[in-house]
Amino acid sequence: MKTDIVEQIKDRLDIVEFIRQYVPGLKRAGKTYKACCPFHQEKTPSFTCSSEKGLFYCFGCQEGGDVIAFLMKIENLSFREALERLADQAGIEYQPVQTLTGEEQRRANVRKVLDFARGYYHKNLMSRAGEHARAYVKGRSLTRETCEHFELGLSPAQGVFTSAAKQSGYTEADLKDAGLCIQTEYGLREYFRNRLMFPIINQRGDTVGFGGRILGEGEPKYLNSPETILFTKSHVLYGLNFAGPAIRKADRAVLLEGYMDVIGCHQAGVAYTVAPLGTSLTAEHAKLLKRYTQNVIVLFDPDEAGLKAALRGALILTEEGIFVKVASLPDGLDPDEYIAQYGKEKFESILDHAQELIAFHLQRQIDLHPQPLSAQDKTSIVTELTQTIAKQPDGIVRREWVKYVAEHLGLDEQLVLQRLAQTEKSAALSNRYQAARQPAVINAAQVSRTPSAEEDLLSWILKSPQHIVLCSELTAEDFSSPALWQIFQTIIKAHMENPQAENLTELTAQALPQQKHEIAKLALLSVPDDFNPARDIAACAAKLEQAGIQKKLQAVTRQMKTYGTGNVPPDVFQTYMQLQRKLKQYRS
Ligand code: CTP
Ligand code: MN
Repeated sequence: MKTDIVEQIKDRLDIVEFIRQYVPGLKRAGKTYKACCPFHQEKTPSFTCSSEKGLFYCFGCQEGGDVIAFLMKIENLSFREALERLADQAGIEYQPVQTLTGEEQRRANVRKVLDFARGYYHKNLMSRAGEHARAYVKGRSLTRETCEHFELGLSPAQGVFTSAAKQSGYTEADLKDAGLCIQTEYGLREYFRNRLMFPIINQRGDTVGFGGRILGEGEPKYLNSPETILFTKSHVLYGLNFAGPAIRKADRAVLLEGYMDVIGCHQAGVAYTVAPLGTSLTAEHAKLLKRYTQNVIVLFDPDEAGLKAALRGALILTEEGIFVKVASLPDGLDPDEYIAQYGKEKFESILDHAQELIAFHLQRQIDLHPQPLSAQDKTSIVTELTQTIAKQPDGIVRREWVKYVAEHLGLDEQLVLQRLAQTEKSAALSNRYQAARQPAVINAAQVSRTPSAEEDLLSWILKSPQHIVLCSELTAEDFSSPALWQIFQTIIKAHMENPQAENLTELTAQALPQQKHEIAKLALLSVPDDFNPARDIAACAAKLEQAGIQKKLQAVTRQMKTYGTGNVPPDVFQTYMQLQRKLKQYRS
């Protein structure tokens, strides 16, 4: 039953189209599609997927597998949760029969409690008890429709929500797990009281937490739900659940600062706007946005803090391969105030005139120095700007930026390029230093690794299993790792058991689930242009055998040395002679 649904899903969903929802940059490259990997940072695409094979693989970070594995990884779901979602998208009925794991059960509970709270707060806002809060919202120019669209709410005084939740069957543990209540020495206390509630809904439409604004003046102005099993602040962008389609349509997104700004913009018809949850922008946010568009405008307050935050955020977005522009509003107005006062057209025209990141950064640097610029100022400005240029993964844009900086400072392009090279060198050094300290990150050697002869061979026999017999002389010692030897044996076994099977890769991966990443990679390796299966497989096998013999010979030679001349046991010497003979055969 389980594999049945898995197969149905794989049949119905095209992995390339599915992944495209998360990685819009996928481009055709021969039979496969390529893009920069959503699972690690990179400048050149090493993420590959293939409709025909139903697999993806990243040659950079070695992540790989089928559409289910992709969804589990990118949305951080369990196998079952991923299956449910995929079945839904493929239009397949799927009722899991198994019971949920403890973790899934807890997540499902938290989801239910948060949904309950969202409904409860919203109803409360719209009821008589919510009159004063509705007046506040109206004073901030939000309409009733907007309140309903964003399901704004009102949290009541201490204790009221808890008893309502309990009456509906929720336990204190549920409320604590959901981050709605905390245990204090005075008993259970509600986290949000008398606040205007903003449900935080992730891109999948799940309520994961709340923001709560004080009604009027006071501190703290905002409270956000604590992090829970469902809620990681740096992984969510406020408004993205509504903004997603609008971002795809406009092919741009605007990054704002606050909840009220997002709501105000959506109300005025600019729905491609989102905001982080009062935290600074992270690479996770950037990756999330990149699923929708490659163009992001950062809109910031024109004060020093705003300028700094804009540059910082813009650099993070750039590093993830997003084309960033920076805009600011005149008159010191917040976006929600500006758009309420001047309307959609004026607001959008400001967006249309947003500055390129490099222009913004240069302007800021010039503003920070006295005019006219001294030679020394120019040096320090170029150094500063090359740090931004170095973050730009797109080679063409990079080159343009170098030109821009050179022109505007009246310098030779070569000089800017030289400084850029220096900046990159010191960045690489400090990266390497960090990599050494954090073994979890992928090291450069892995990223640029070309397939070894063994990997080539395995990928070729997956493609042409009828030639497996050409590899019959290979032994475990001929492989550099037990894992590859195991894959080799598994391929042979799978082929022997199902000689007619067309899905040898899948059979192999099923028989060896712990190696499925590597197997997916093998299946996606490209073959040489003039690939001749029989000739190439035979040659590659011979090469591996020869290398294996040489290795054995070295070992025996070492062994002989330990005995010393004249004391070598006859069987050791025999082995030595045999190996020498074999090697000669390969050479002839
Ligand atoms: N924020 C927060 N805690 C605070 C203040 C702000 O978490 N004490 C976060 C909120 O996500 C808020 C964002 O930072 O939306 C931006 O802050 P601010 O500009 O002060 O809030 P606005 O959303 O603009 O709200 P308002 O216009 O009502 O002041
Ligand atoms: Mn504001």
